[in-house]
Amino acid sequence: MLNLVLFGAPGSGKGTQSKKLIEKYQLIHLSTGDLLRSEIAQGTELGLEAKKLMDMGQLVPDAVVNGMISNKLDANKSAKGFIFDGFPRTVAQAEALDQLLKSKGSSISVMVKLNVDDEELMHRLLLRGKDSGRPDDANPEVIKKRLHEYHSKTEIVGDFYKDQNKLKNINGIGDVEDVFAALSGVIDSL
Ligand code: AP5
Repeated sequence: MLNLVLFGAPGSGKGTQSKKLIEKYQLIHLSTGDLLRSEIAQGTELGLEAKKLMDMGQLVPDAVVNGMISNKLDANKSAKGFIFDGFPRTVAQAEALDQLLKSKGSSISVMVKLNVDDEELMHRLLLRGKDSGRPDDANPEVIKKRLHEYHSKTEIVGDFYKDQNKLKNINGIGDVEDVFAALSGVIDSL
């Protein structure tokens, strides 16, 4: 199995690159942000609780996202592999994912981190906010909070995989196709 963690700050291009990767490598895309927005769209209790936090730019509790990922792994037993997008976002989530995959006789193959500076991230998200309909893109203060959450709670997850010799860094700034070529290069080298 090829299990890829696509890592990076909000707006670094995880979703954009995931769409291209699933086509090329036939992997299952697991985005906790998309899963949460789907819960919100369905008006579930979980979605309503998550929405309050997401609209403020805060992370939702680890147990909620861990449970969603566990369900998706169980529902895709014959998958060739997964792209984890926006997950894990805390060290506790990374530990839970390792345990989950271990219980299925699998593991993370690689984490690829898309490096983009905060100024560019703010620019991309405000631009997208003009027509995305995402409340968390519409307000610069909420974007700042998302970036703060990333730097204070999420960035450290890179070290978790670095310690396992699984972290690869790539430049996330530039043409989408160039970033994709760099990402594909990492995957093809595995
Ligand atoms: P989530 O949906 O994961 O959003 P995010 O991490 O904030 O990231 P985005 O989806 O906004 O950015 P992206 O990196 O995918 O970039 P994209 O390709 O879209 O999470 C939302 C919320 O849900 C969180 O704040 C939290 O509350 C909650 N949540 C989710 N997962 C959680 C978890 N595990 N634990 C706890 N809470 C969780 O690109 C962004 C824009 O840039 C687009 O307009 C795109 O066209 C553009 N772009 C992409 N690449 C380039 C490029 N190379 N050059 C120029 N523009 C580009």
